[in-house]
Amino acid sequence: MKEIIEKIKREIEEYRFDSPGSTEQFRIRYLSRRGAISLLFDDFRSVPADLKKETGKALNELKNLAQDILESNSRGSLSESAVSLNDYTRPGYPLEAGARHPISIVRNEIISIFSRIGFTVSEGPEIEDDNHVFSKLNFAPDHPARDMQDTFFISRLSDERSSVDDILLRTHTSSVQVRVMENEKPPIRTISPGRVFRNEAVSARAHCIFHQVEGLYIDTNVSFADLRQTLLFFSREMFGPSVEIRFRPSYFPFTEPSAELDVSCRLCSGKGCNVCKHTGWLEVLGCGMVHQAVLGACGIDSEKYTGFAFGMGIERIAMLKYRVDDLRLYFENDIRFLSQFRPVF
Ligand code: PHE
Repeated sequence: MKEIIEKIKREIEEYRFDSPGSTEQFRIRYLSRRGAISLLFDDFRSVPADLKKETGKALNELKNLAQDILESNSRGSLSESAVSLNDYTRPGYPLEAGARHPISIVRNEIISIFSRIGFTVSEGPEIEDDNHVFSKLNFAPDHPARDMQDTFFISRLSDERSSVDDILLRTHTSSVQVRVMENEKPPIRTISPGRVFRNEAVSARAHCIFHQVEGLYIDTNVSFADLRQTLLFFSREMFGPSVEIRFRPSYFPFTEPSAELDVSCRLCSGKGCNVCKHTGWLEVLGCGMVHQAVLGACGIDSEKYTGFAFGMGIERIAMLKYRVDDLRLYFENDIRFLSQFRPVF
């Protein structure tokens, strides 16, 4: 037995860890249940009594040595990883490219379209006061949009105080435009992208958080024709050069006249299909000429200047573009949904 121990000792000291899997082969050959060293332990029973002490000691030393060698080669620099890095037959690591969120893709596209015709980007706070979200936008004190049903209030002051002091989450980014009008002199040509909040039950068609891009243009002699041409340009850049637009009369407290803009359904080219509910038209945004009372409240001379405004939901545009019509998908961050928007290289 002594000679065998010596022989294995030399073998393991000279063992070359130079191929993929060599540490595992070493473990199997010497240290596994049926490995050479384990088998020696099995034979230990037949060692004569007077040699037991000496042989036992040598056997234990051999086992420890084998374990040390194995351990240092599974961690060390010459180890498995170094060897396998040189193994060019191994499949590559699955490094995945990230994807932009569809709302970011559409928002960036909207910003890019309007910046090509001279619009700047303005931002403002998500936590706002009543003044910027409602009062200066010509919402009457008892307008239903101020109601708890629609607005998330952060602090609502008692009824004896004016509602102007209320602090709330903005329900539209028109509040940013009020801030721009307060602080800048016309000509103003800006869009305000951002997150807005409304107190709605979450469903496929409604969400309590969504994203808007609102636009504002104020200068001398701005007319509805300018609004029409600007939105025609936007619609054709966004949905394709052949889309048609139409306006339907509408109502917003801050614009007069007000309208809603439809674009012709590009799936059926206006013939009627499921997406446009057989009308041939898709509802895209609200718009109108800025109300005189709003210009006045924001310190702009309404005798001298006129302007138009518009506002759209980014989710709505994304729905039309990608035909994803469950709003909740945009907020769940499910990787299976998001990875479909990965750019194709
Ligand atoms: N602020 C309106 C909304 O949130 C959209 C809009 C903006 C309509 C500007 C007309 C003019 O729905």
